[in-house]
Amino acid sequence: MPYALTPLCPTLSLPYALRSHSPTPYALRPMTPPQISIIMGSDSDLPTMQAAIAVCEDFQVAHEVAIISAHRTPERMVAYAQQAHQRGLKVIIAGAGGAAHLPGMVAALTPLPVIGVPIQTSALHGVDSLYSIVQMPKGIPVATVAIDNGQNAGLLAIQMLASHQPDLLKQVQTYRQALQNAVVEKQERLAALGYRQYLSEI
Ligand code: RP5
Repeated sequence: MPYALTPLCPTLSLPYALRSHSPTPYALRPMTPPQISIIMGSDSDLPTMQAAIAVCEDFQVAHEVAIISAHRTPERMVAYAQQAHQRGLKVIIAGAGGAAHLPGMVAALTPLPVIGVPIQTSALHGVDSLYSIVQMPKGIPVATVAIDNGQNAGLLAIQMLASHQPDLLKQVQTYRQALQNAVVEKQERLAALGYRQYLSEI
């Protein structure tokens, strides 16, 4: 098993993602043109969106990152969304908070699949972002992940690409196996130590 699960970003207590201890973990793919777009309404969204970026890095899928605001740079958003498929992008991950219109408006302007990441907000804890992104009208879907779950957005984008890229599909299967192994190892440790000692060592 060449892969191991390690914290993706310990400082932000993010969940786990696939990391390799090998210097060349995956078959190298050309890094251009980017296949996955990761956009966000503000640099204040970057701490959440970095988890999606890290997944692309882990799976070595070419990606691009940009700050594009639906409200502050609307013309730029329109141009970006309309041209995305012509530049070879395959899927767009869009994070936004509050009146989170970026994912939905980008989805309205592109034929590509859009994954929305609701950013947690201080006033309404991200429920505002979630409702703004998930309640799309029929015909213009946005695949919405949980509040602040940039990692799942990255993984979903990878899985979309993997459905027609056999090498990437194998990597997704390896990642899933590593997740299973981690749970089994935890159970074996819990059974061996008992819950009190297990908790004391977390
Ligand atoms: C949204 O407004 C952004 O997606 C961000 O989540 C929120 C706040 O932006 P800043 O005021 O921090 O730039 O457009």
